[in-house]
Amino acid sequence: MQPQMMLELIDVTKLYRGRKRAIDGLTLELGAGLLGLLGPNGAGKSSLLRIAATVTRPTSGKILFNGTDVVARPNELRQTLGYLPQDFGVYPHLSAREFLSYLAAVKGLSARSARSRIDELLELVNLTEAAKRPLGGYSGGMLRRVGIAQALLADPRVIVVDEPTAGLDPEERVRFRNLLSDLAADRIVLLSTHIVSDIESVASDIAIMAQGRLRRRGTPEELLGTMNGQVWETVVDPAEAARLQARYVVSRTIRTAVGVRVRLLSSGPPTADAIGVPPDLEDVYLGVVPGSGAHTSELPAVPR
Ligand SMILES: Nc1ncnc2c1ncn2[C@@H]1O[C@H](COP(=O)(O)OP(=O)(O)OP(=O)(O)O)[C@@H](O)[C@H]1O
Ligand SMILES: [Mg+2]
Repeated sequence: MQPQMMLELIDVTKLYRGRKRAIDGLTLELGAGLLGLLGPNGAGKSSLLRIAATVTRPTSGKILFNGTDVVARPNELRQTLGYLPQDFGVYPHLSAREFLSYLAAVKGLSARSARSRIDELLELVNLTEAAKRPLGGYSGGMLRRVGIAQALLADPRVIVVDEPTAGLDPEERVRFRNLLSDLAADRIVLLSTHIVSDIESVASDIAIMAQGRLRRRGTPEELLGTMNGQVWETVVDPAEAARLQARYVVSRTIRTAVGVRVRLLSSGPPTADAIGVPPDLEDVYLGVVPGSGAHTSELPAVPR
């Protein structure tokens, strides 16, 4: 049996150039499974993932992998880590197969095991057909898939992927989500995104961060529960819709034949005929992350 794996980030702070506080006293424990990290631009997701992937040191705080201090002794984690950085780059003159062979050699895989592993991975990310073409001619989504493949080369037990689905078309997105949830059965997978729907269908564990801090952590059901009774839909004329948008966090507006259907967050009914609706993850996200919707003044603090 595999021993229990555990990656712990304890009170981690990251200051850039000694000033910019990208991560602010964040504590996060990860066991086997997929943790989806959600947050707006600049929340500190990439900074956190770089620290978890041992390519940036925290300014203060501790990172433990199975109890070992990762800052002092990073190799135990590095040996079993697959990392896809947000700004992953490739060598444009190499084909996908050549590029993966190159990285396999760098990672110390034998030529023979590399060959079969690369075949398998190319198939997994749906690039078998294109595998001989130079990467310089690949689309953004195809390059992202090469990035996913390289992260999985050495069959890592810890997988850290930063916005892995950026640029993927819907079909590839679904394919990748399924792949990651399979992998997460017996691995630690940490995935960042600012796309709520990417996480909704795969993550049994979600963390929402903003301004360098962890704002929420829980199962989708737990997070949805925090917004029960606070999501409303109402159909109004366009002028009233504009007024509602100025007063409330509005998660959706849809123009219909009979008016504008507005979905918003409020502790009580915003209009006489508003109907309470079950929250979705998008509502939770907008409720938690200040400034990502309209005004938050009407929204009570969401209980923890
Ligand atoms: N190398 C760096 N030097 C200085 N500041 C940085 C550096 N990297 C990130 N920052 C700053 O730290 C904060 C967090 O950035 P980070 O890239 O971690 O956020 P993010 O959540 O990944 O955002 P995005 O969704 O845009 O990728 C931002 O204010 C950013 O400008
Ligand atoms: Mg980022």
